Amino acid sequence: MKLASIGLVGLLLLARQSFGAPNKCVSPQPPPVTHKKPNFVVILTDDQDQLMNSLDYQPYVKRHFIDEGTSFTKYYTTSAMCCPSRVSLWLGQFAHNHNVTDESRPHGSYYKFQAGNLDDSWLPVWLQEEGYSNHYIGKFINGVNKDNTVAPKGWDHFEPLVSPGIYNFTNPIFSLNGGPLESFPGVYQTDLIRDKSLARIDALVEKKKEGDNPFLLVISPTAPHDEIQEDGTFTPPVPADRHKHLFPDARVPRTPNFNPAVQDKVGWIRDLPLLSPLQVEEIDHHYRQRLRSLQATDELVDSVVKKLAANDLLDNTYLVYTTDNGYHLGQHRLFAGKQTPIENDINIPFIIRGPGIAKKQIKTNPATHSHFPATVLDLAGIKRPTNLDATSLFDPEHTESFNVEFWSNQFTEGGSKLKHKKNSYKALRLISQKHDLYYSVWCTHEHEFYDMKVDPYQLSNNHSAADRKLLDRLDALVVVLHDCKGEVCKFPWRTIHKDGQVHSLDDALDAKHDAFYSALPKFRFKSCKVYYDADNEGAGSSPFS
Ligand SMILES: *[C@@H]1O[C@H](CO)[C@@H](O)[C@H](O)[C@H]1NC(C)=O
Ligand SMILES: *[C@@H]1O[C@H](CO)[C@@H](O)[C@H](O)[C@H]1NC(C)=O
Ligand SMILES: *[C@@H]1O[C@H](CO)[C@@H](O)[C@H](O)[C@H]1NC(C)=O
Repeated sequence: MKLASIGLVGLLLLARQSFGAPNKCVSPQPPPVTHKKPNFVVILTDDQDQLMNSLDYQPYVKRHFIDEGTSFTKYYTTSAMCCPSRVSLWLGQFAHNHNVTDESRPHGSYYKFQAGNLDDSWLPVWLQEEGYSNHYIGKFINGVNKDNTVAPKGWDHFEPLVSPGIYNFTNPIFSLNGGPLESFPGVYQTDLIRDKSLARIDALVEKKKEGDNPFLLVISPTAPHDEIQEDGTFTPPVPADRHKHLFPDARVPRTPNFNPAVQDKVGWIRDLPLLSPLQVEEIDHHYRQRLRSLQATDELVDSVVKKLAANDLLDNTYLVYTTDNGYHLGQHRLFAGKQTPIENDINIPFIIRGPGIAKKQIKTNPATHSHFPATVLDLAGIKRPTNLDATSLFDPEHTESFNVEFWSNQFTEGGSKLKHKKNSYKALRLISQKHDLYYSVWCTHEHEFYDMKVDPYQLSNNHSAADRKLLDRLDALVVVLHDCKGEVCKFPWRTIHKDGQVHSLDDALDAKHDAFYSALPKFRFKSCKVYYDADNEGAGSSPFS
């Protein structure tokens, strides 16, 4: 807690002091400490992949973020769907704690968010209590519609896209602070969001003339999400006219997991037929439309960064570029969409730049959207609340494992409304210097195990061949993490080994613990349900309480 309240900037300043002093015996001059609170600008896209290389097509993201900041390449959403992901991002909780687990009623959407009063305690409120003014422009979560525009707590300026204008690229509809709908037929959504954001920065600059007035500005365009037609069909995103002819030859990278002839996966994915040449053509078209739709986002990034620079705000502003969840197109024969625990759907871009953040740096410690609030609060020098499920991205004691969790049917996007059943699962990801492991337990009682160092494309389910002793440890982690809260999520080994002697998988693998792990009850779902029913999953009576 003490470290948390000093914040990263404080730590960096301390580090600079102790390592940079020319003579250790002379107490160094204290560096000029600025008491100004930093600003935050978050650019949050929708369904942007990391693993189909979309970032390679965004030169301004490269120039202003990747080259000027730190990229976290093992950054994850723990529920590959818009609503659960976005709620985790602002609350710092895993989906099993906020329980917004779907994108529509009754188990998800803005309705579920409001029903749970989740805006009583979340990042915008914590920042506001410390003098921040908070501004949101663009897509918030699904289900914000004309009857339901009341602004959640914590925002001074809340201007969400409103249904049916969220997924219509050429007819955006907004509502400001719960006020009347304003629709802009014929205007390209991302360009309008850019203009609104630039105007907002002008207003914030004016406010700063009256005092410090730190701010959080969130800019959330819908691209590269699909467009959704009035009948509910998903179709590829629509680019701005000026970008619609770009990248005529781009196609989904043909990685070994792209429409593979042979794959060993859980039931419904294993049984998918090979994609036909016609479907592969549609997938490549979809891919190009995604890249094209991201061009206006890339231009937005350039305009926003230049505007901040022109107003001398860059030195005291942290900028984040991320998305809500990933996307698949053809991997594992999945046509188009998200919601599965495959790496495409969960591993997402996260890049941060700002005071004290290393430039052109790549960090591989694992982190999730639930790590975001602690990261922001530390950077702002604000004490963290106690109900966060994850630490900061910059904490020296890195996260080693987390559960990806889902309770719903999967549906295929891109022109099809095929519904698959039985897509509820817990998937453990464990990532450290030495390990890169994936282990999942499905509601169908199937299991998957991939050693991602051996099988990075998750092609050959090695659950039956895997070392039973290793699986016993992973099973114990799934049990602890499946309903963890707060410190238990951050330090799962402390719950399993109360003596505090075990800090990592390698510690736990010591043969002296074999009998203990082998005797532990295992996590299972009783049946496949489309929502989080605590009685439907677990390991019987809690083995670690
Ligand atoms: C989660 O919400 C659903 C309703 O959407 C409810 O039935 C369920 O009991 C909740 N789960 C928990 C663990 O609170
Ligand atoms: C977008 O809105 C326009 C104008 O209302 C309408 O003509 C068009 O069909 C809409 N597109 C979608 C995908 O809903
Ligand atoms: C499967 O597990 C066996 C035993 O641990 C190992 O030798 C093999 O390399 C693994 N194969 C894959 C594809 O992970």
